[in-house]
Amino acid sequence: MIAVSVRRVAVLGGHGKTGRAVCAALADRSLDAVPLGRSDWPDLAGAVAECDAAYVIAPNLHPDEPAYVGSALTALAAAGVGRVVHHSVASPYAPAMPHHVGKAISEDLVRRSGLSWTILQPGAYLQNLDLSGPLDLPYSADVRFGFLDLADLGRAAAVVLTEDGHEGATYELATRVATVRELAAEAGVPVRRVADPGTHPWLSAMFAYYDDHGLPVGTRVLEALLGRP
Ligand SMILES: NC(=O)c1ccc[n+]([C@@H]2O[C@H](COP(=O)([O-])OP(=O)(O)OC[C@H]3O[C@@H](n4cnc5c(N)ncnc54)[C@H](OP(=O)(O)O)[C@@H]3O)[C@@H](O)[C@H]2O)c1
Repeated sequence: MIAVSVRRVAVLGGHGKTGRAVCAALADRSLDAVPLGRSDWPDLAGAVAECDAAYVIAPNLHPDEPAYVGSALTALAAAGVGRVVHHSVASPYAPAMPHHVGKAISEDLVRRSGLSWTILQPGAYLQNLDLSGPLDLPYSADVRFGFLDLADLGRAAAVVLTEDGHEGATYELATRVATVRELAAEAGVPVRRVADPGTHPWLSAMFAYYDDHGLPVGTRVLEALLGRP
């Protein structure tokens, strides 16, 4: 059933690759998407005031994600925007990965915000892998991931934002389960193990975790949300 009251959706972090996918899916449903970024932060309550709902995306590797999410929730409440969908990650409480823990803490803030909330926990994006040529990978190519297509993320976001029955729900999302070696073989490109480039300590921690465990996510929740296998 469509919740017709949601016509205009603020997408915090809406200019990034995640936000663009969410805005595109909302536009496909003829809804108004309002992408917001850093320049809107000083008066976030004002920027979201005309919106019926918000999709909250934290920037990649934000140094204090709970503070970012907490400010967003405060602004939504102040502006009277009662509906929020929060973009988290699969396996947020993974203490070996500091940026995942920031998302676990943020989820708790969302659940205790007093707003009507839904939390999406996406697997690693398929679009993270550039399969147009040889792939250099700083973790094992043979561990399993639940990979999520960003277009599917957008579709799922639009469903939970506009249809009834998703309040208070937390959904893990993956389009397909695979190893990187399997995806590279399908694309016909070689995959080569390389050293961690050491660009950010949280990414190094993530590569070490992936190396041992991958990031498994099942596909059935997304199938149910989108109504297709
Ligand atoms: N990559 C994956 O596989 C994956 C999987 C699951 C979850 N995630 C999560 O998805 C989220 C979004 O990733 P992304 O790559 O789409 O995001 P992103 O491009 O890093 O950031 C999105 C937007 O956030 C805004 N922004 C940056 N710094 C800000 C600040 N200090 N205050 C307010 N806004 C700020 C920017 O908007 P403006 O330029 O307009 O200012 C930017 O376009 C991350 O939290 C990531 O952990 C990613």
